[in-house]
Amino acid sequence: MLPTFLFSAALLTSSSIAQFVPTPTDLITKVGYYNQHVRYKEVPEGICELTPGVKSFSGYVNAPLTVWINGGPGSSSMIGLFEELGPCSINADGEVVNNPYAWNNVSNMLFIDHPAQVGFSYSKPVSAYVDSSSGSIVTLPDATCPDYATGSCGTFSYPNETDTANSTQGAAPSMWKTLQGFMGAFPQYSRNEFNFATESYGGHYGPVFNEYIETQNALIRKGQLPGAHHISLSTVLIGNGWYDPLIQYQAYYNFTVSPGNTYDYSPYNQSIQSQVYNALYGAGNCYDQTIYCYKSGINSICAAADNFCANNVEAVLDNIPGRDEYDIRELAPDPFPYGYWRAYLNSEKVQKALGAFVNYTSDGGNTVYNAFVNTGDDDRESGTIEACRALVSQGVYVVQFAGDADYNCNWLGGQAVAEEIDAPGYCNAGYVDMKTSDHITHGQVKQSANFAFARIYESGHEVPFYQPLAALELFERGIGRKDIATGKYDVRRGYITKGTAESTFREGNGTVQFDVLPDDAIYNTTLNAPNPTGNATTKAKRDAHGWKPTRSMQSPMKRRSLGAKPV
Ligand SMILES: *[C@@H]1O[C@H](CO)[C@@H](O)[C@H](O)[C@H]1NC(C)=O
Ligand SMILES: *[C@@H]1O[C@H](CO)[C@@H](O)[C@H](O)[C@H]1NC(C)=O
Ligand SMILES: *[C@@H]1O[C@H](CO)[C@@H](O)[C@H](O)[C@H]1NC(C)=O
Ligand SMILES: *[C@@H]1O[C@H](CO)[C@@H](O)[C@H](O)[C@H]1NC(C)=O
Ligand SMILES: *[C@@H]1O[C@H](CO)[C@@H](O)[C@H](O)[C@H]1NC(C)=O
Ligand SMILES: *[C@@H]1O[C@H](CO)[C@@H](O)[C@H](O)[C@H]1NC(C)=O
Ligand SMILES: *[C@@H]1O[C@H](CO)[C@@H](O)[C@H](O)[C@H]1NC(C)=O
Ligand SMILES: *[C@@H]1O[C@H](CO)[C@@H](O)[C@H](O)[C@H]1NC(C)=O
Ligand SMILES: *[C@@H]1O[C@H](CO)[C@@H](O)[C@H](O)[C@H]1NC(C)=O
Repeated sequence: MLPTFLFSAALLTSSSIAQFVPTPTDLITKVGYYNQHVRYKEVPEGICELTPGVKSFSGYVNAPLTVWINGGPGSSSMIGLFEELGPCSINADGEVVNNPYAWNNVSNMLFIDHPAQVGFSYSKPVSAYVDSSSGSIVTLPDATCPDYATGSCGTFSYPNETDTANSTQGAAPSMWKTLQGFMGAFPQYSRNEFNFATESYGGHYGPVFNEYIETQNALIRKGQLPGAHHISLSTVLIGNGWYDPLIQYQAYYNFTVSPGNTYDYSPYNQSIQSQVYNALYGAGNCYDQTIYCYKSGINSICAAADNFCANNVEAVLDNIPGRDEYDIRELAPDPFPYGYWRAYLNSEKVQKALGAFVNYTSDGGNTVYNAFVNTGDDDRESGTIEACRALVSQGVYVVQFAGDADYNCNWLGGQAVAEEIDAPGYCNAGYVDMKTSDHITHGQVKQSANFAFARIYESGHEVPFYQPLAALELFERGIGRKDIATGKYDVRRGYITKGTAESTFREGNGTVQFDVLPDDAIYNTTLNAPNPTGNATTKAKRDAHGWKPTRSMQSPMKRRSLGAKPV
């Protein structure tokens, strides 16, 4: 197991006002590359990492470094750490549980809360409370919690939309600067290859941020950025990404109606199908509005288009059959992946151990999300396709993967995006099974040289939660620059998967749920379904502990974000 770092994108000084979370006094300060200041703390063992000595295990220093960021816009990367691929998860009783499939088994991992004001990152910490109906942060005159806000008070980042990024392109420089700070403070973890793994809105972030890194590298080579560090970008991995809204809004229809999903589940009757079709293709509707956004590039037009498409095309799955957008097999509220870690991160013990300045919120009261909504970034292609193409031509290994039960950024859309990227040779490749060490076929992959698209079976949006072994092996192959199908061949020009034109495997509806699951249901990765429910013994125990698990608050307005849910 290799070191894991939690990192905030905001590297600003704190103010000394009264706070509910006392200002940490035990942080180490360093100056990183490009004069980026960094404050950090070594997190004691047991807070998440349970393997003794992981941090001091110097034999692993020569391993690659991988950054993980979640999407949103405005989602915290603690989602990935605690729900998907970090060294631990938190159970219903608030206990730390080891994750045997953690990605730090094969790479140093850096989880960044980005852009500023997301998760633990902040611009200015203030006393405030989270408004229960809107989810937004309301400031208080001092550190006194009024009765009406009991249970939701804390120290939060002052919600300021002008003090964060409001677009994918606009968020790239702060990510690069954060990396410069980290790499200068921890050169021992930054000498080898660098990889970037992300999901969901990461279909925007991943391509654009990494192409920005390559652009900065070019300036460094010309001597134009003194003090900056060349980042040896090797692999970019993107799970269930949101790249091109024009393609992916159409994919909602394809996934639910024609050709449909692979779970033999048809969520709409004839009239709803026609309604969705019309919302997409009717004159002046989603398709036309998105084209108008692409052509005009005007914020208000893109924002209006996105709003229209989200409400009239995408959210129909939430509103009519009441299904979880992130896993069509489940009805909402979906207890998977578990959210118990949110309460854990808001305990005083953990805040102290992490050196947190603010209470934890996964979405920073929606400030970043709202800032992105204003520019309509969600309805823009934002140069993602061109950036993927450029990265491939620069020799970066680009791996797109998609859990095939996710509707939100579904695999049919991802597959169409892969074709649109049109990496050299990709149009001649075919789908082959992905072979893993457990000899179970977890998916298929289509690959040409340093570009791959993998469809993962029986998986919702957060693939490492649903398919931990396949996700770890895919990750290890990706960062090792090996083929995704077998992990045996170096990725090089001429490598191509020879298989079928379409990925035709169908799961059927054996794992589709037709009742809302109890909130303490356990997902079983052998069954690819919840364990049959017995008596809810953990619930009584959990209530006794006063844990309040936060669940997927259904909020169709927040697409690739969701305050209490992914992504
Ligand atoms: C994690 O790494 C250890 C040591 O290299 C190895 O024995 C173990 O099998 C790995 N676990 C997985 C799930 O790959
Ligand atoms: C903020 O953190 C404090 C502990 O430092 C905790 O008592 C409080 O409940 C937290 N607030 C929220 C809204 O989680
Ligand atoms: C919001 O952020 C901007 C940019 O940093 C700053 O100029 C402004 O004063 C902030 N507003 C408040 C009310 O703090
Ligand atoms: C949706 O289906 C249509 C008709 O088969 C096809 O032309 C289009 O490429 C598909 N789009 C996506 C995103 O799957
Ligand atoms: C189709 O489904 C909608 C939403 O559930 C319902 O209101 C409508 O009555 C259904 N139409 C038919 C013809 O069953
Ligand atoms: C987005 O941010 C940029 C850079 O800070 C700013 O110039 C622009 O006005 C912002 N756009 C909106 C719609 O807030
Ligand atoms: C499950 O799939 C079978 C076979 O495709 C189909 O006949 C059945 O109607 C499906 N059940 C539901 C509830 O969709
Ligand atoms: C998952 O299901 C299998 C098959 O029923 C069972 O043997 C196993 O114990 C279950 N795993 C968990 C963690 O409950
Ligand atoms: C649930 O609890 C009841 C009453 O204690 C007991 O009779 C039953 O066997 C339990 N069922 C399971 C599946 O544990």
